[in-house]
Amino acid sequence: MSSPGKAELIHVFKGIPFTTRSSPELLKSLDNFNAREDDVLLVSYPKSGTHWLAGVITKLYNSQVTLTSPIEFGDVSKLEELDQLSSKRIIPTHLDYNMLPLNFKNKKCKMIYISRNPKDTAVSMYHYYRDNPNLPTVDTWTAFFDLFLKGDVVCGSWFDHFLSWEEHRSEKNILFLFYEDMKKNLPKIVKDITVFLDINISDQEIQDICKKSSFSEMKTNTEKENSDPNHTVCALTSNRKLIFRKGTVGDWKNHFTPKQNLRFEEIFNEKMKLSDM
Ligand code: A3P
Repeated sequence: MSSPGKAELIHVFKGIPFTTRSSPELLKSLDNFNAREDDVLLVSYPKSGTHWLAGVITKLYNSQVTLTSPIEFGDVSKLEELDQLSSKRIIPTHLDYNMLPLNFKNKKCKMIYISRNPKDTAVSMYHYYRDNPNLPTVDTWTAFFDLFLKGDVVCGSWFDHFLSWEEHRSEKNILFLFYEDMKKNLPKIVKDITVFLDINISDQEIQDICKKSSFSEMKTNTEKENSDPNHTVCALTSNRKLIFRKGTVGDWKNHFTPKQNLRFEEIFNEKMKLSDM
């Protein structure tokens, strides 16, 4: 049996490619979403460390919290499903700022945006595309590199996504985090998260959470768990090995040719000229 083609796996909504697992009806109805003041949103471009952040945050609460699948994932019944959850909701999303349901903005829900060096993000996404039958086939890194720079990948252009959120970086209900900072000093970032979320927790507890959130611990544990797609960040696969791949900074150096690096830098500098990055 031949594998499904791009047309069966991807559709474009408001100029952004989505997988067909995000139904157009759901995307159209997102503005009807009932946000709650205590919702916490985990926002990212794919492959930026969302599972890692979700793993940390869900361990911070003593009370019952529910990590949902991304808000844009599923069909229209999703809105009702999320409405029925009685516990506090931690909701991941890969939506860019302009597509985020208005209700989250009006209610000033807390949102944590995690970003990662786009070169490493591209490499991580390449492997994810290559090994995930729910995404279009890519033959080579060179071909994927071009698609990534054009924004012809799920969730569109990394640059547009980042810039749409960066514009709101100084708003009080938005916390900006970087994958590389989490790698450098996780306890410090976890402390920043607890302050932002008003969570009272001891330094010892933070140390314990960091230990449990190391790449190797998370990888081992997640492979043992039977993950329910309704409560995972990436509902595009049940194969956890695809998500916990390498977990390092700088893997791009093993993939980019000097010419690709130059081209990436040129485009980065042009697109990001008004950014603080
Ligand atoms: P790599 O493919 O470079 O290994 P997301 O969760 O947004 O899909 O991001 C996935 C990336 O985060 C993968 O990157 C994955 O290995 C990395 N990652 C997941 N958990 C991690 C952890 N505990 N520490 C460091 N990196 C982690």
